[in-house]
Amino acid sequence: MAAATGTPVTFSKLTANFEARTFARVKIRNKCYFDIDTRYTDLETIGDGAYGVVCSAWDSVLRRKVAIKKVADVFEDLVDAKRILREILLLRHLGEHPNITSILDVTVSPQVKDFKDLYIITDLYECDLDRIVTSKQILTRPHIQFFLYQILKGLKYIHSANVMHRDLKPSNILVNSDCALAICDFGLSRGAEDEASLTDYVVTRYPRLLYSAQIFNISVCDS
Ligand SMILES: Nc1ncnc2c1ncn2[C@@H]1O[C@H](COP(=O)(O)OP(=O)(O)O)[C@@H](O)[C@H]1O
Ligand SMILES: [Mg+2]
Repeated sequence: MAAATGTPVTFSKLTANFEARTFARVKIRNKCYFDIDTRYTDLETIGDGAYGVVCSAWDSVLRRKVAIKKVADVFEDLVDAKRILREILLLRHLGEHPNITSILDVTVSPQVKDFKDLYIITDLYECDLDRIVTSKQILTRPHIQFFLYQILKGLKYIHSANVMHRDLKPSNILVNSDCALAICDFGLSRGAEDEASLTDYVVTRYPRLLYSAQIFNISVCDS
């Protein structure tokens, strides 16, 4: 599969004509349902994250495959709801960069006025870095250099917007077979100046810890 090359759709277009959408209920591996716009077909599970199931699907409007992340019961927990909102807002702003996943569409279940589930549609990648590094696949020096180069490029863009990802790990880095790479999962991201909200996470998440330590000028060993 070629690198994800989708042209991001503007947010006003995402939510336009919502009432005109038609929905179908698709059963995913006997364990959950996707109430999804009928433009998306051939759903298959590709990931199971902390906030929900991720499926690949054929998008009959864009005429290519996409990824759909279902966030079930989005309002059940206020903190989680804020994280999802933050993820959508950040992807809107940062997703134009080639090394950051771009958001293509957002839909809710058919009960638009009283919805519980949210679906975030992004460019589809073939794998994540966690699966690659835990597989038997040999990574050559040029592979590693190219991955690192793209990660740093994506991070530079994120940090230039004064945002910290705070959950950078192999499973949140998506890769295609041509080695194109994109950083995903901005649910824990924060603005660098949002100091108060950082404290509960920095002690448990080592990649963020290193970055936060630099920002707040603290010793990593004393944290
Ligand atoms: N656009 C995508 N293309 C391919 N796989 C994806 C995509 N988005 C997510 N995934 C897969 O689903 C997993 C969970 O997605 P993620 O956005 O990290 O959700 P969570 O917040 O639940 O961790 C990822 O680790 C990855 O394996
Ligand atoms: Mg994740």
